[in-house]
Amino acid sequence: MAILVQVSGWDAEPWAVMFQSLAPDRAVVTAAEPARFASVGYAMVWKPDPGLLAKLPNLKVIFNLGAGVDAILADATVPMHIPIVRGIEANLTLRMVEWVTLHVLLHHRRMPFYRDQQQRSTWADVQQPAADEVTVGMLGYGTLGMAAGAVLKQLGFKLVGWSRSPKTAAGVNTFHGAAGLAPFLAQTDILVCLLPMTPETKGILNRGLFLQLKRGGPLGGPIVLNAGRGGEQVEADILTALDDGTLQGVSLDVFETEPLPAGSPLWRHPKVIITPHNAADSDPRGICRYVLDAIARHEAGQQLPNLVDRQRGY
Ligand code: NDP
Ligand code: OXD
Repeated sequence: MAILVQVSGWDAEPWAVMFQSLAPDRAVVTAAEPARFASVGYAMVWKPDPGLLAKLPNLKVIFNLGAGVDAILADATVPMHIPIVRGIEANLTLRMVEWVTLHVLLHHRRMPFYRDQQQRSTWADVQQPAADEVTVGMLGYGTLGMAAGAVLKQLGFKLVGWSRSPKTAAGVNTFHGAAGLAPFLAQTDILVCLLPMTPETKGILNRGLFLQLKRGGPLGGPIVLNAGRGGEQVEADILTALDDGTLQGVSLDVFETEPLPAGSPLWRHPKVIITPHNAADSDPRGICRYVLDAIARHEAGQQLPNLVDRQRGY
């Protein structure tokens, strides 16, 4: 069966080219070829056009090219019975581990402060706490949160994790559900949000949450990192919290509106570090291999990997 490839917001060209080079015998169909839609058994998509997937009468599996499936689930026309597979593979996970580790270290080693000093040609030291004096809290302790947490633990940071369901992990204080959120936040110096976008997580990074983060820690105030989704953060609350000292600093990879509008005060705020939603880019080679492997398993009657649970919303 043919595969439909549709990618929005990223450069689309490499995806079809890579897929075809790895699977020369499998026909590739584009969204501009409705006459071929009946031949499509699989779809490989990122932010597909709303309504497109429902037009494929013989669709068997949807492969999302990234880890977050919010764009697909937002389309109510996607038939409920078709399995959706998240794009999770080693390269994407490693990139997220790098982003989280980099930004934890930037704040832990006070780089925004030294950067500011450098601009003023000033030589002065500021307290550098040891890693084991700092607790990193993974808000979302799933595939990416666990992988990043393992590296941070290697570096000596204390680790706490929050998830929906209970988890056990050696040397990690884990919390879950609504009741676990406050005690989790109370221990956290550096909060790392790696939650999927769902009705429950919308706007979770707000003033009420920031006020529950640990005070009096070694970094002079709590730090927040968000590489989950922009809809999880209330940017007006972040700005207020930075200005009144509720937060010491933030690193943001995702935004309420993307691209971040030129007029956003976040761009110029000295306590904000911005990356353009590329904490963990999807690599065409790695993801296309992953998709091909999953198709082969599916056609051999085996279980698909990383299936989305539509009820849960991720
Ligand atoms: P997973 O599904 O593996 O992990 C999600 C975690 O969040 C799980 O621990 C889950 O709990 C927890 N969670 C979800 N909803 C709730 C809730 N209501 N309350 C408490 N915990 C909750 O996802 P990944 O780790 O693979 O990816 C996470 C997200 O990262 C993606 O959905 C995407 O939005 C974002 N992402 C961003 C990228 C970027 O470049 N910025 C790149 C890749 C991903 P439980 O374990 O109990 O299910
Ligand atoms: C993803 C992303 O979800 O890149 O993979 O945002």
